[in-house]
Amino acid sequence: MSDFLRVRYPAVRALLAQVLALVAVALLLIALLQLGNWRVPLWQAALLQGVCAAGLGQWLGLRRWWLPLNFAFVPALLALQARELPSAWFLGAFLLLLLINWNSFREQVPLYLSGARTRRRLSERLVDWPADFRFIDLGCGLGGTLVQLARDYPQARLVGVETAPLVFLCAWLRCLPRRNCQVRYRSLWHEDLAPYDVAYCFLSPAPMGRLWQKVQTQMRPGSLLISNTFAIPDVPADEVIELDDWRDSRLLIWRR
Ligand SMILES: C[S@@+](CC[C@H](N)C(=O)[O-])C[C@H]1O[C@@H](n2cnc3c(N)ncnc32)[C@H](O)[C@@H]1O
Repeated sequence: MSDFLRVRYPAVRALLAQVLALVAVALLLIALLQLGNWRVPLWQAALLQGVCAAGLGQWLGLRRWWLPLNFAFVPALLALQARELPSAWFLGAFLLLLLINWNSFREQVPLYLSGARTRRRLSERLVDWPADFRFIDLGCGLGGTLVQLARDYPQARLVGVETAPLVFLCAWLRCLPRRNCQVRYRSLWHEDLAPYDVAYCFLSPAPMGRLWQKVQTQMRPGSLLISNTFAIPDVPADEVIELDDWRDSRLLIWRR
């Protein structure tokens, strides 16, 4: 398997695991039928497919959290189909997930949010900056971090960029009443970081190397990159704030 596929597209590997498991189980069912006229109930076949898909996913190098997803995918489809839900529901659920997790596939960055303690510690860390510092949340999610900082630092100028459509809409609406806070529908790769004193991100391991190159090219000396949890490969952080939460979160801080 090419490194490109391995690094950039885990969803393609998950799909591959599902398809291979389906083919393997289908061949097994045909063989059992032909050799011993033995019909396996659909439910057992679905569970067997789940076990195969989960195992194949691990073999293809997917992270551990894909295991239950790969196992449950086909059995869950079967369970939903048994309830004879209208097909529009599936389309609706798919569209909803797509509008929320728009960046999962290409950027490998799904939606999960900075916790309250993280936001508080981040806010405390910024206390020494001039009151009108400029801050950007790269992939601002639902805008929780921006809202907290807008409350704590009424004179700061706060910007969020977000490209998952539904998530952007929520963040935009939340920040609308706040005068010092603006949310833009824009990829973080298209935002010039030069005007900002502090860039904050909570992304995934995948984009961190590329992000560091962008920071080095665009941010001014003295400005900060703060990453929730995800490190930059081969670039040790200048400062680490442990958050002691269930996710083992840390704020990693690099000074340009
Ligand atoms: C893990 S969430 C973090 C949300 C928020 N920053 C927080 O800490 O609560 C990452 C967000 O980045 C967004 N995202 C991923 N790639 C992006 C890109 N290229 N441009 C803008 N937003 C992006 C995702 O849609 C997601 O909402």
